[in-house]
Amino acid sequence: MMKMLYAGSFDPITNGHLDLIERASRLCDQLVVGVIENKSKVATFTPAERMEMIRNVTSHLHNITVDCFDGLLAHYVKNNNIQAVVRGLRASADFEYEIQMAQMNARLYNKDVETIFLMTSPDYSFISSSMMKEVFSLNGEIKGLVPDEVLRCMEQKRLNKTGGIK
Ligand code: PNS
Repeated sequence: MMKMLYAGSFDPITNGHLDLIERASRLCDQLVVGVIENKSKVATFTPAERMEMIRNVTSHLHNITVDCFDGLLAHYVKNNNIQAVVRGLRASADFEYEIQMAQMNARLYNKDVETIFLMTSPDYSFISSSMMKEVFSLNGEIKGLVPDEVLRCMEQKRLNKTGGIK
């Protein structure tokens, strides 16, 4: 059984992430979408909120598991019998960071694990979670760039905060 991991902050999940999840899910038997709980980073959504959004927007896919972890990705990979890690590449600017991570991870986990890169769809190659939050916080239109469900959660978060969404 081919089990793959797509890990990230997903704060929140965008349509770029979703496109990648849909495509990666066709390449394996099981795709684990792993929300990284990075305690040193201030996140807008809690890990539980991020996981719920991911579950809701991937409910049409039948081989997705959503999980959350902290610590090293390489340890999660080893402990969960993951055979490949998938990452999206948007532009050449991503490459430097991604190759460093892939090579460091290759040292940390056994040689049977591969990092697989999928090119982001040109429709979404310019977006990131942080850009979506910035544009949204300044009242810009992001419909079509994040799932509608995520947009509703961002609106709800804004309502619950006095200073706007971070
Ligand atoms: O969506 P992101 O934030 O670009 O994803 C980066 C992420 C979370 C996959 C990366 O930072 C990561 O793997 N973090 C877990 C900690 C870890 O393993 N660090 C060493 C990477 S070589």
